[in-house]
Amino acid sequence: MKTYQLAAVPGDGIGVEVIAAGLQVLEALSQHLGGFAFEVTHYPWDSAYYLKHGHYIPEGGLAQLKQADAIFFGAVGSQQVPDHISLWGLRLPICQGFDQYANVRPARVLPGVKSPLHNGEAIDWVIVRENSEGEYSGSGGRVHQGLPIEVATEVSTFTRVGVERIHRFAFELARSRPAKHLTLVTKSNAQRHGMVLWDEVFAEVAKDYPDVRTTRELVDAVTTTMVLKPAQLDVIVATNLHADILSDLAAALSGSLGIAPTANLNPERSFPSMFEPIHGSAFDITGKGVANPIATFWTAALMLEHLGEPAAARHLMQAIEAVTASGLHTPDLGGTATTAQVTDAVIELLRR
Ligand code: IPM
Ligand code: MG
Repeated sequence: MKTYQLAAVPGDGIGVEVIAAGLQVLEALSQHLGGFAFEVTHYPWDSAYYLKHGHYIPEGGLAQLKQADAIFFGAVGSQQVPDHISLWGLRLPICQGFDQYANVRPARVLPGVKSPLHNGEAIDWVIVRENSEGEYSGSGGRVHQGLPIEVATEVSTFTRVGVERIHRFAFELARSRPAKHLTLVTKSNAQRHGMVLWDEVFAEVAKDYPDVRTTRELVDAVTTTMVLKPAQLDVIVATNLHADILSDLAAALSGSLGIAPTANLNPERSFPSMFEPIHGSAFDITGKGVANPIATFWTAALMLEHLGEPAAARHLMQAIEAVTASGLHTPDLGGTATTAQVTDAVIELLRR
């Protein structure tokens, strides 16, 4: 019997509700299948904790988290704390501190879910987001603050090592899928330094993957491909900011932000990886019990795969898809079901 150490960081807003639901589902899964179990440590690092203590992650907190086999993360963001403070206080120190450089964001229209596209069933994408540098490197500064001559710089940093490792990761992933197709997304016509490095390194790495078909698209153009010709895409690799934007579009085209999962991976496994729904804290529905837990369940399936429990991941995905197909939908998908109802339905199927 394997016992996985799970660090639960529910964070803010509906993060609390969906992580609780996700843990219930993982517990039911391990009871039903046997062979593995979870020991969960809860970390209370939310924005209320920040307002009380002046920090999200306390001294030594990252060292504690590092002991975990995986981190199950809800959301961060509160109306009481500026977003750049909460992001740089909690999520980015984990992603960057643990070198979770590969952010994997699958998008697919689950059975019973309606895409705004007439041909939404063609969506079967994985967006690979560079997760450690680029536009999110935090490099820059402000000079002459508050004065009319104020200047601010926001510098994107691209390293050859950072670019090469994300391309290799994306090629490996593309190779493992039936279509074996990788689209490189940049903006190397206008941004002539970092983005050109992305193009060059991509071409070099591509030589090692002759079995993977490649295409290149500019980030503006790929939005039209996503909407008008979704079947032309399979795996997409893009920078931190570009992939952030494309993944919201991908989630909307797949029917709802409430179903989109993500894995922040440290592929070398020197550090734990982090798994989170991409929807964020959603103040408008916090506490109402109607948050869609499907993104978190799908996220849990990605986590099980990473932990080396592919059969459990498949079993969970089948239960998720049976529930979405049944029409038991939360309001974001046009239904009236509650978080608890969807969770109970998934658990009931897991036990069969
Ligand atoms: C995401 C989110 C975050 C990001 C926010 C919360 C800062 O949009 O995970 O896509 O931009 O990285
Ligand atoms: Mg985003």
